[in-house]
Amino acid sequence: FEDWESPIVLPSPPVQGTDDWASAVDRARAFVAMLTLAEKINITTGIDVLGRCVGNTGTIPRMGWNGLCLQDSPLGVRFTDFVSAFPAGINAAATWDVDLMRARGKAMGREHRGKGVNVALGPMTNMGRVAAGGRNWEGFGADPFLSGAATAATVEGYQSVGVIATVKHYIANEQEHYRGGSDAVQVYSSNIDDRTLHEVYLWPFAEAVKAGVGAVMCSYNKINQTQACQNSKLINGILKEELGFQGFIMSDWAAMINGVQPALAGLDMNMPGFLGYGVGPQNDPNPVTATNSYWGAALIEMVNNGSVTEGRVDDMVTRTLAAWYKMGQDTGYPNVSFSQLTEETYLNGELVNEHINVQEDHYELIREIGAASAILLKNENNALPLSVGNIKRIAIFGSDAGPNPDGPNGCMDRGCDQGTLAMGWGSGTANFPYLIDPLAAITTHINSMDPTVVVEGVLNDYNLAQVKTIGSLADTCLVFANADSGEAYINVGGNVGDRNNLTLWHTGDTLITTAASVCANTIVVLHVVGPVLLEAWIDNPNVTAVLHPGLPGQESGRALVDVLFADGENPTNPSGRLPYTIAKLRTDYPAEVLYSSGNSTPQITYSEGLQIDYRWFDSKGIEPRFEFGFGLSYTTFEYSGLQISVSDNTRRAIPSEALSITPFKTLTATATSNFSASSASASSSPSPSWSFASVQLSPTTSAPPPPLSSPVGDIGGPRELYEDLVTISFTVQNTGSVEGNEVSQVYLAFPSEYGEPPKVLRGFERTYLDVGDEESVEITLRRKDVSVWDVVRQEWVGVTGEVWVMVGSSSRDIRLQGSFEL
Ligand code: NOJ
Repeated sequence: FEDWESPIVLPSPPVQGTDDWASAVDRARAFVAMLTLAEKINITTGIDVLGRCVGNTGTIPRMGWNGLCLQDSPLGVRFTDFVSAFPAGINAAATWDVDLMRARGKAMGREHRGKGVNVALGPMTNMGRVAAGGRNWEGFGADPFLSGAATAATVEGYQSVGVIATVKHYIANEQEHYRGGSDAVQVYSSNIDDRTLHEVYLWPFAEAVKAGVGAVMCSYNKINQTQACQNSKLINGILKEELGFQGFIMSDWAAMINGVQPALAGLDMNMPGFLGYGVGPQNDPNPVTATNSYWGAALIEMVNNGSVTEGRVDDMVTRTLAAWYKMGQDTGYPNVSFSQLTEETYLNGELVNEHINVQEDHYELIREIGAASAILLKNENNALPLSVGNIKRIAIFGSDAGPNPDGPNGCMDRGCDQGTLAMGWGSGTANFPYLIDPLAAITTHINSMDPTVVVEGVLNDYNLAQVKTIGSLADTCLVFANADSGEAYINVGGNVGDRNNLTLWHTGDTLITTAASVCANTIVVLHVVGPVLLEAWIDNPNVTAVLHPGLPGQESGRALVDVLFADGENPTNPSGRLPYTIAKLRTDYPAEVLYSSGNSTPQITYSEGLQIDYRWFDSKGIEPRFEFGFGLSYTTFEYSGLQISVSDNTRRAIPSEALSITPFKTLTATATSNFSASSASASSSPSPSWSFASVQLSPTTSAPPPPLSSPVGDIGGPRELYEDLVTISFTVQNTGSVEGNEVSQVYLAFPSEYGEPPKVLRGFERTYLDVGDEESVEITLRRKDVSVWDVVRQEWVGVTGEVWVMVGSSSRDIRLQGSFEL
């Protein structure tokens, strides 16, 4: 793995105050100028995990600055009461509706703000590179463009109400096995080439930066052999220079493995401040005097002994306060009114939970997104939607249809798979205020229309005899099955975060085939965290319909009724689309979880390159079961009238002078002028471990870094990249008999010499259409959307030649084609 290395990029670029960050950065600088070194360090280092929030910086009492509360999760406010449990990120992606994504972000932002959270620890935007990846459901699927749009919209939503959003986990954190953490013995290195990094994994992070995200969280793993939180190429070089990021970057919880290198590499905040899980608590609740931390007192010593400049510390704090000012948190921001440690009112005699109810009417949005993210995979003979008038006797099978016997929050961080599944497990969770299960919602609905219909549920997945008895009497059978995953610190049924397989849990396949063996109208409902294999029964003629509601959150049952029944109070024609490919065989996917690496360092090489998910299936000619972007409707849509126009003044290729990026300044052991090899580190850091191979760098003086010529680019990358370049328009008409939404998708094929996948998603739009109505849909491509990353020039280069446009209803259901010339 010698070929994979992370160059060292120093010094860390100071914040510039670019564009709309100018006044926030000015104010932050003025504030920082008034602080002592100790006070500054209190902002850089957390107080351990024992505070009110999962992360808490120190405070500056002299200035009346109360510190920052950082709290999970990407689907709600974790570890407290009177909050909502939103649909998971993967469901937001499955709506393919940017307005719903933004509305979800805003509603979650309001709840965080209402509880006094300054920094929300979401969105999570790692990619669904491996189908079994444990935390895929927290994010937005397996395509960078879809993830990028969802990430940007979510960030905008959170920040529109003054909450600092955190895009995580930076970067290439696509599996849970060997993910790392300070106490981990084996930590994987994601080995990834520069082009793949830029075009796939960095893309959503870049969109977040462009959207003005205030915070980034670096990941536990290594990238190209160097820990993420001390990877100067990624933090100094890419995030802060190339992407012109103006906010701050925090470590994931105990992701730091030493003190000096992260500081030099550009890390701005150490969370939660202690040395690591299992290493014991900080010995002092005051970060600046705590010695059981890689920063805190150690960072003071690093400044004093010249390992880290005070200028670097100033920049850490300026960036953090700039985000705080930018969101307007300096005035009228609510105080923290809960404790992650308890839902009780008092803890050790102190009032910690005011039980402030922040749910507002978010249940309505949750239900709407729940219905809008349901993906209809199969529907023979119009099995769906159901009408109560046509049902005499309905059977409902599977533990996934009913409640968790231990209650909706019966397992810590949802670390079990009991009852209906509406979120995965781990830190990406929130407590359910309630969870409407499918059996309850369906029974209530049917009962309200016709109390004489027999509704009989068998929730025991293994009582197949009873399933057969009841199923053979019913005219309609609904079978519920699920598949769960989550974060590695919880092991559910032997699944250490990542799923061990792609099959349904609780022998779901057997439940489905048993029901179908006696019931000619078997409708399958899948509450799943990601792709599952359906081959055991998908072609069974008695399986008439398959609905995939994913992880819908607290309104699960009601949202499901909206889609299943045409006669409900809120009937919804399904329009959800797969944010990933469902393969026929597990081995059809391009990449796998690395479950075991023996005694060697786990190496995860992203050798499929750009060919993630559908791109791989397309280029290898593999027939998927259901392709990326797939989803049926109760109506039909027709496409016509494709028009493409390229704006005149932007026909040129990007001249490199127009770009504000200068090439990376890469320091190596032989090219160090201001830096020299040194083993000096914070003496309080136990067993400092150096991962830059043989190169050990620290500054020789405490002088501020030399001024950078013009290293810091525009926010999100060169602004030219975000200019509109091509307009694609077409007409969509509802030609069926029910109103509904169509999700139109635009894929591009670049000239072959660029070596891009056969098609890449570059636009989408969800359009509501009444029966017979038509509407013109317009999709704009930005220059970035028709550029590729040039690894030699180290910049995006606009493609030249003929670009093919494919407009369709999925990645394989292409309805219109055309091309344009650049
Ligand atoms: C570790 C997780 O990886 C991260 O996503 C989360 O925000 C922190 N723990 C804090 O709970």
